[in-house]
Amino acid sequence: MNNKLLKHVNEDVSSNDSANPIFSDVMQTRLSRRSLLQSGTALGAAAALPVGMSLFSTDAKAGVFADDNIGKARQLGFSPVPFSSEDAVIVPKGYTAQAFYKWGDAVGIDGRMPEFKQDGSNTTQDQAVQAGMHHDGMAFFSLPLGSKNSKHGLLAMNHEYVDNGMLFKDGIADWDANKIRKSQNAMGVSVIEIRQDNNQEWQVVRPSAYARRITPHTPMRVSGPARGHDLMKTKADPRGEVILGTMQNCANGLTPWGTYLTCEENWADIFTTQGVPTAEEKRYGIGSKDEVYLWSEQDFRFDIGLTPNEPNRFGWVVEIDPYDPKSTPIKHTALGRIKHEGATVTIASDNRVVVYMGDDQVFEYIYKFISKNHYQPNNREANKRLLEEGTLYVARFDENGNGEWIPLIQGQGKLIAANGFADQGELLVKTRQAADTVGATKMDRPEWIAVDPYKNGSVYCTLTNNKDRGKDGKAGTDAANPRADNLFGHIIHWQEADRNPTALQFKWDILVLAGRHDTDDTRFKGNMAGAEFGSPDGLSFDHRGVLWIQTDVSTSTLNEKEYAGMGNNQMVATIPDSNEYRRFLTGPNGSEITGITFTPDNKTLFINIQHPGESRSGTADPANPKAISAWPDGESGGRPRSATVVITKDDGGLIGS
Ligand code: FEO
Ligand code: CA
Ligand code: CA
Repeated sequence: MNNKLLKHVNEDVSSNDSANPIFSDVMQTRLSRRSLLQSGTALGAAAALPVGMSLFSTDAKAGVFADDNIGKARQLGFSPVPFSSEDAVIVPKGYTAQAFYKWGDAVGIDGRMPEFKQDGSNTTQDQAVQAGMHHDGMAFFSLPLGSKNSKHGLLAMNHEYVDNGMLFKDGIADWDANKIRKSQNAMGVSVIEIRQDNNQEWQVVRPSAYARRITPHTPMRVSGPARGHDLMKTKADPRGEVILGTMQNCANGLTPWGTYLTCEENWADIFTTQGVPTAEEKRYGIGSKDEVYLWSEQDFRFDIGLTPNEPNRFGWVVEIDPYDPKSTPIKHTALGRIKHEGATVTIASDNRVVVYMGDDQVFEYIYKFISKNHYQPNNREANKRLLEEGTLYVARFDENGNGEWIPLIQGQGKLIAANGFADQGELLVKTRQAADTVGATKMDRPEWIAVDPYKNGSVYCTLTNNKDRGKDGKAGTDAANPRADNLFGHIIHWQEADRNPTALQFKWDILVLAGRHDTDDTRFKGNMAGAEFGSPDGLSFDHRGVLWIQTDVSTSTLNEKEYAGMGNNQMVATIPDSNEYRRFLTGPNGSEITGITFTPDNKTLFINIQHPGESRSGTADPANPKAISAWPDGESGGRPRSATVVITKDDGGLIGS
């Protein structure tokens, strides 16, 4: 056993051998109307808009998330920050950034508020009531429920993965069930109560009746077509209806009825088998041996030789009601089983709910779910069942700029028993195979998806990178994934037909190719004006309609010569169609930036700093934890810690203005 923790070990390795249609090398024929216009000289931004769209329209039904008053004048008003290799969070002049709710800080559960011990000696029980490791997706919920309070609320956030080398005083020495349980307790979700005090500083409220940790041991209810399916049954759960826990919680979603969606991404990394993985297991990247988490050594539900159906119970979107700390989270199987990055919710004009989702691995797909039933603004209990029933679709991006959402419905076309889809439950457990079968477009690692709150049906998705694109035996370039050896990724945009999120056709183009200006090498030349960036991952609109992009350039890429001089991971802002990118934040050494959320008044921005101190091997060095980063505690601290950062403007104004 060793301490190497290779985060996202499977994301860069394809498990998709399906023979979907591959378009010829069309990069030169279509980099999208948008990017061709951008490289021209005389055409302004407005000319690049898809037909029928106008700038700054405010008629969006997605306005449930937007505030028309602050969205009317989108513009960027801050002075950009330069690239940085400083071990700090740097924001523009006139802004203040403060770290709070760091890994190991008390959640605020009454009577159980242990202090963080800098040497890693907190107990397994302590970790169950402390912030988990590796903060990721996050959302702010006003208190009380239904208000737009921007001074008091809840933060729900994901703790994506664990680094066993940092979690303990002595790493994985004397590995046993108690250590495994501490490792498990460091993953999952936190709900904390926060309040802005009279000095405009945000504090965690401790104790709080809302404070909660959700871990790989929290019981969850199963909803949808795979509930009770034979493939979901185990010895411990013979009915296939109750699952213990959620894990590898990556990005997130926020519903207009005030619930939090947490998304299970790299769950396959946890499972191990002594035998040869089946084709089904391989399609989800379930390998033969886990040398990173080591849970299966004594928690046998992660040994698929013993519990072959347990992996079927992960890879779902989980809905959590943060306002009710006693509520049981729900795994919604209708939204499909993939390596879920996030789940971005919007409401169509007929009040059906639409959820956009990326499957984050090279050559995987983009999905959307349309609910059967309708959102009722005044019926929260009914709304909490909307994700239980509906239709899942997968995207095909055609070479001519059109696109189609293909339904994944058992019995239609080739989605029949003879092809391994005996019923809708089985199809959803095998969502990837169903998407292979209908010829979806293999994308360059779909990560976050953002819906423009001021333009109906206008949607963006980050495609973070894919160095295998165009390699021998792998899918070649296509119009939607136009770069071979795609080191820095791109952002794709689509406009749903009739500006309707429930439409099954769309038009698409590429918002931006990430990369740098000072190269002629098309593999890493960016086409943005302003701030260069690589590997867009986090992506979210604020309430003003500004689009915020967080980067996750891997530590190995950070060390490649193509990246030299671009510094640490960062966040940039843009107004869609302006092609102007402005750098707002740079992160500490070895970190990625993720998990963005805003208060309703857009005056406070919360952002997560994940894995400060990560080295090229994928983890901090247990023998010398602060070798790369001492953030956020500095030299007095014992080890780097992921943390939430709260950012306000010193004059009390709107973030980004
Ligand atoms: Fe968890 Fe795809 O990042
Ligand atoms: Ca991510
Ligand atoms: Ca990522």
